[in-house]
Amino acid sequence: MNAPDPAVTRPMPHTLNTYGRLPVALAYGRGCWLWDTEGRRYLDGLGGIAVNTLGHGHPKLVPALQDQVAKLIHTSNYYEVPLQEQLAAKLCELSGLSGAFFCNSGLEANEGALKIARKYGHDKGIERPEIIVYERAFHGRSIATLSATGNPKVQKGFEPLVEGFVRVPLNDLAAVERVAASTPNVCAVVLETIQGEGGVNPARTEYLQGLRRICDERGWLLMLDEVQCGIGRTGKWFAHQWAGIQPDVMPLAKGLGSGVPVGAIVCGPKAVNVLGPGNHGTTFGGNPLAMRAGVETLRIMEEDGLLAHAAEVGAVLRGALEQGLAAELASGGVKEIRGAGLMLGVELAKPCGVLVARCAEAGLMISVTADTVVRIVPPLILSADEAREIAARLVPVVKTFLAEA
Ligand SMILES: Cc1ncc(COP(=O)(O)O)c(C=O)c1O
Repeated sequence: MNAPDPAVTRPMPHTLNTYGRLPVALAYGRGCWLWDTEGRRYLDGLGGIAVNTLGHGHPKLVPALQDQVAKLIHTSNYYEVPLQEQLAAKLCELSGLSGAFFCNSGLEANEGALKIARKYGHDKGIERPEIIVYERAFHGRSIATLSATGNPKVQKGFEPLVEGFVRVPLNDLAAVERVAASTPNVCAVVLETIQGEGGVNPARTEYLQGLRRICDERGWLLMLDEVQCGIGRTGKWFAHQWAGIQPDVMPLAKGLGSGVPVGAIVCGPKAVNVLGPGNHGTTFGGNPLAMRAGVETLRIMEEDGLLAHAAEVGAVLRGALEQGLAAELASGGVKEIRGAGLMLGVELAKPCGVLVARCAEAGLMISVTADTVVRIVPPLILSADEAREIAARLVPVVKTFLAEA
């Protein structure tokens, strides 16, 4: 994510200065609306960066979480956690995969996936396994996941990077074939089905199908990072399901707990037994509160038909943006509107980080990624009217910005 314009941000004096924060303190939320401490109201086009699947204060989620807080928050993985088994079984049912490990965030899910890739390589007798990763990818900010990330700004100052990654451009199968021919130690490919932080860049259907074929031919693991694009955001449970393929490993997080921190590594048959006792673990991961949040999020999504809803409302939002910005699309000020369902990017012809603050002033939360892309990832409960309202608030801000010299 791009930091908002430094001219309008202010640090919080006792927290490390790692975020460019807008001077807005949010106090309260209902559905897709947020109120700040001054009583101003905002339409939430950001969903806590693709996290608040069920919006704010959801009438079914809140009592379930209250119930769980009163029963048990945390126990440790020394004991059985029945809710872990319940959430794992549900994720397996929805994905067709075989087993899950629970952690607390997206980077942890990816870190664990990278460990699975390396161990899988070692188990096959490869002493120095290599993993194919992507230009403009984002997988997190630990040393290993920032090394896998394809953004020099995220890596700068943290060298030496972790070795064992080979980088290729997205949607170029020939590049993968070239690596296959020249690098015998490859054991896995890791990519986002739709790149989020890199500017909302979808992997094409044929590309995903081609990768699946190459991974099968070569015995590599196909690892699809669905931390941002998964959990119903594109109108299917997982974005790769549009391509009719299955990964071997799928890191998840963000929307899975609807705001309660939870991550998961979901594994298919080739990967599910790679890690054994003592190979991996976490204190908090899979605790009863996080698991209940995941179980209830998926249950409510099913009950309320939120997959079909995300696809429909996403189409309304996209249509309203295309209509509102038709002149700018024609003139090239807006280069492209892309994405799927409720994960949309509006790419402008010039850097537009200032739009985060300007949209907030206009009562709309959005973010800007990859310098030039306005990203909209609202709660999946967004109504069609709210989708049109996002466009109604965003379009004039973009038009004014593009008209400036
Ligand atoms: C695709 C993807 N993977 C991993 C991460 C890292 O997740 P977290 O911030 O929870 O560590 C992100 C966060 O933006 C992401 O978009």
